[in-house]
Amino acid sequence: MNKDLLSLFDLSEKDILKTLSLAAQIKKELKQGKKTRQALAGKVIALIFEKPSLRTRVTFETGVVQLGGHPIYLDNQSIGLGKRESTADIARNLERWVNGIVIRTFAQKTVEDMASAVSIPVINALSDTFHPCQALATGLTIQEHLKKFKGITVAFVGDGNNVAASLFILCAKLGMHAVLACPKGYELDKKVEQEVLRSAKQSGASLKTTNDPVRAVKDADLIYTDVWASMGQEEEIKQRKQDFAGFQVNSALVSKAKKGCLVSHCLPAHREEEITSEVLDSVSSVTLDEAENRLHVQKAVLSLLFQ
Ligand code: CP
Ligand code: NVA
Repeated sequence: MNKDLLSLFDLSEKDILKTLSLAAQIKKELKQGKKTRQALAGKVIALIFEKPSLRTRVTFETGVVQLGGHPIYLDNQSIGLGKRESTADIARNLERWVNGIVIRTFAQKTVEDMASAVSIPVINALSDTFHPCQALATGLTIQEHLKKFKGITVAFVGDGNNVAASLFILCAKLGMHAVLACPKGYELDKKVEQEVLRSAKQSGASLKTTNDPVRAVKDADLIYTDVWASMGQEEEIKQRKQDFAGFQVNSALVSKAKKGCLVSHCLPAHREEEITSEVLDSVSSVTLDEAENRLHVQKAVLSLLFQ
């Protein structure tokens, strides 16, 4: 494993499978009430959040505590990332006191600058470009429900955003076919797409983009979606609602997919916008399993980075 988890490009197929297998083991032990492995005994982890969070904050805080460590939550009002002090200066100070940094921020460059300023592990807890921990949770959920990766098809209906990018890297690394259905202008970042295609070629996976959600879900084993406007895009909400009309994940769309097709959403969901409650709360939805799995995969990531 690399020192940091900045994006899933940092992990090989072997690293991802090892992380998911450890996550499954950690989950099993927790359910059996066994004493949690103390991979972070005596260690302090700083959690920097420049954006709001429910799942990521709670699962990292809980995960660190369960592994025997101590989390320190730092919101941006207190530390003023890049304003009160430069990112690198904050990182260099933190390194003198704590053993690792988890950061949710806007620019991917901030995560990278932080990682290159220090020798302690830095984990990306979401940037505008990537959300690797979310994709690992999707991976564990697929492993549990579909029992395999190679050859399955994942259709992402919505914005080619941070969550889509990380999900598609996961697909490419593990040999899953990925399809993005989005309105024109909301495709994956070109550089990320090139990297995903390169990775997909090696694993026998594929990546396609279409403007037709029905075509995208035709062979899908999993339909995935996310909000139309991400954090930081609040001013674009009105325009995006117009552009994404027709890209809602609803029962009419799910009925066009393969029988037994699963549905997931990284959450938070805007019900009746990108997904209907009927679908989100249906038996096909593995959304809450995935939310739970954030805890287990992040504990696995922490255990491996700090071993
Ligand atoms: N999915 C996810 O990262 O949720 P939060 O924004 O609540 O952390
Ligand atoms: N794409 C969303 C994901 C939230 C977990 C955002 O960045 O706001």
